[in-house]
Amino acid sequence: MAPAVAVIGAQWGDEAKGKIVHFLSREADFCVRFNGGPNAGHTVVDGYGEARLHQIPAGALHPQCLGVLAHGMVLDPWALQEEFSALKAQGRPEPKIFISERIHLILPYHRLREEKEGMADKLGTTRKGVGPAYMDRVGRRGLRLLDLGNEEYLREKVYSEGQYLGKIEPETIIADLLHFRREFENRVGDAQVLLAQALSAGKRVVFEGAQGTMLDVDFGTYPYVTSSTTTVHGIPVGAGVWPEFSAVIGVAKAYATRVGAGPFPTEDHTGLGEKLREAGREYGATTGRPRRCGWLDLVALRYAQKVNGFTHLALTKLDVLSGFSEIRVAVAYRVRGRRVEEFPAAPWELAQAEPVYEVLPGWKRGIQGVRDFEDLPREAKEYVRFVEEALSVPVALIGTGREAEALIVSWEPWS
Ligand code: GDP
Ligand code: IMO
Ligand code: MG
Repeated sequence: MAPAVAVIGAQWGDEAKGKIVHFLSREADFCVRFNGGPNAGHTVVDGYGEARLHQIPAGALHPQCLGVLAHGMVLDPWALQEEFSALKAQGRPEPKIFISERIHLILPYHRLREEKEGMADKLGTTRKGVGPAYMDRVGRRGLRLLDLGNEEYLREKVYSEGQYLGKIEPETIIADLLHFRREFENRVGDAQVLLAQALSAGKRVVFEGAQGTMLDVDFGTYPYVTSSTTTVHGIPVGAGVWPEFSAVIGVAKAYATRVGAGPFPTEDHTGLGEKLREAGREYGATTGRPRRCGWLDLVALRYAQKVNGFTHLALTKLDVLSGFSEIRVAVAYRVRGRRVEEFPAAPWELAQAEPVYEVLPGWKRGIQGVRDFEDLPREAKEYVRFVEEALSVPVALIGTGREAEALIVSWEPWS
């Protein structure tokens, strides 16, 4: 089998995909982002400190791993340069990246449009211009990275945003973009060909999903979603390759969070949600917004499993549950008095869904940094087994802390 591994958010984003991707990329040749853009915030905590990655693939923190920004992403060139600077300021070696020439660009007027059209307030978006840039792509009026090679076309595009010209300085934008093109010239090209060749040569490739299944533009809680395909289906579309995956890993927190608007059946308003937020430091890596918190939702997770066909689960942030006397898990919903086992596609049904909880015993002892499953308290082991059985998917990785090494690994990724 081709050594390709997909890492996909199984919930509403921020499942700790960054940490899992970083772990899997220790021995990988390529790490590929295929969807989203600077709306993503993937955190890795290692010897250099806390890296917050937005557009640079998390695997590229390893010197041997080439980070690929495939055409399914939307790229903010200014934000990318800032990201490089932030990593450099931590004393890290410069990550090696390669960007698809077909990638669509986010320009300053995309952010203005996101505000003006009310998307930011109504949906609680990340205000990074991601939605409007994807809209321009399907509207067939976007600007791609390769278009920077045609200065006349570039000028025409930027000046065509007449209504925003009072707020943006077109000549500065054009000059910045031309500078970006020169600076990154050797790191831009046909990423599809690169990946297709890498896969046929048997190279190890990690695909790094951004956002999560419930934020997928088709499979998520539409319209409270992002504008890209965040599920495993985004890989062929967004990277242009269709590998036979040796693993499709669904990343799920041991509880649930959501940032921004939209239905979230297991959100807790009793004070325990707040306790989870503090224990899990649940504040957005991109926007700093407090995340809404609640319990693990097996209805949503079973749905994510069906959509993506996960072969393995990574259950992250298990340490955050230490100290809770009871742990709730939603095993079904009640909608207008009726028990529902399947995740409803209609938002009005989802908005009425009341979780049916099963209550599991908690554990007191802290488990931060535990690396051996046998060292977990009995109740924590039982919790993991409960999730495994409910989904019929093995839990291959368990997160026990923020640090890169705080991970229980019961699986050999590249064997
Ligand atoms: P991503 O977007 O899926 O990559 O996740 P984020 O980086 O946005 O959010 C995950 C947060 O949890 C980050 O602050 C991580 O440093 C932190 N984190 C990751 N794994 C663990 C874990 O196992 N335990 C704890 N306590 N924190 C973790
Ligand atoms: P990572 O990759 C969590 C949410 C926003 C908003 C909706 C649409 O770190 O898991 P957008 O700016 O994409 O148009 O916003 O999607 N959202 C995320 N939530 N994690 C993310 O990324 C997210 N990216 C977007 O909060 O509700
Ligand atoms: Mg995040």
